[in-house]
Amino acid sequence: MKIVKLGGSLQEKGRELIRFLSDYAETKNHTVIIIPGGGHFVKRIKELSEQEVISDDAAHWMAVLGMHQYGFYLADGSGTEIVESMEELRNVVHIGVLLPYTLLKADDSLPHTWNVTSDTIAAFVANKVGEKSFIKLTDVDGLMDDKGLLVRQIHAKAMIKNVRTGCVDAELPLFLMQNEMSCVIVNGNFTERIIAVISGKETDCTKIL
Ligand SMILES: Nc1ncnc2c1ncn2[C@@H]1O[C@H](COP(=O)(O)OP(=O)(O)OP(=O)(O)O)[C@@H](O)[C@H]1O
Ligand SMILES: [Mg+2]
Repeated sequence: MKIVKLGGSLQEKGRELIRFLSDYAETKNHTVIIIPGGGHFVKRIKELSEQEVISDDAAHWMAVLGMHQYGFYLADGSGTEIVESMEELRNVVHIGVLLPYTLLKADDSLPHTWNVTSDTIAAFVANKVGEKSFIKLTDVDGLMDDKGLLVRQIHAKAMIKNVRTGCVDAELPLFLMQNEMSCVIVNGNFTERIIAVISGKETDCTKIL
């Protein structure tokens, strides 16, 4: 089972990517679970939170519902299955889009802060199904260093030490480390890179170990 977080940054291409991944999963007999990011669906909630109009708890659940909405958007018209519970998730044959609200309500162990958003939620779901890695599809080639060069590999511990998380949730490195997990960040605009990462081949990406 491959856990693939599809960033809100890829909204425009999102449905095309779902169709591509759906065809790919069926042809290769893989199982892919899509975790929706936040993007525009969460932007307004972040603003309300920054203005201190809403509490951290309200912001957390509203943001999770933002992911939930993006999930509906991604699955719409694609014929892709929507999944909400652990049982449904485990029964996916080829591809399913997770709507995360119910699952997170059932296991409310993640902190309610903006350091924990859809990247950490993707890692959390992967961990729950026993997967020790997940793929983050985003709109950049991976994590860039101070000179703008692609970091091909980095240890979660080093990210915490450098207090530099760049294009991932601030809390993700800690979650990965605590749960002995890894993550691959790849540019979702290049399908050949996505295939390479899924099949364990080398390509332009960042591996967080
Ligand atoms: N050091 C860095 N390396 C790479 N990208 C970075 C870095 N610092 C900031 N970014 C920004 O992070 C963005 C990707 O993260 P962003 O959270 O916007 O997208 P996403 O995680 O795909 O979407 P979402 O969080 O909505 O699901 C890039 O477009 C880039 O501009
Ligand atoms: Mg993000």
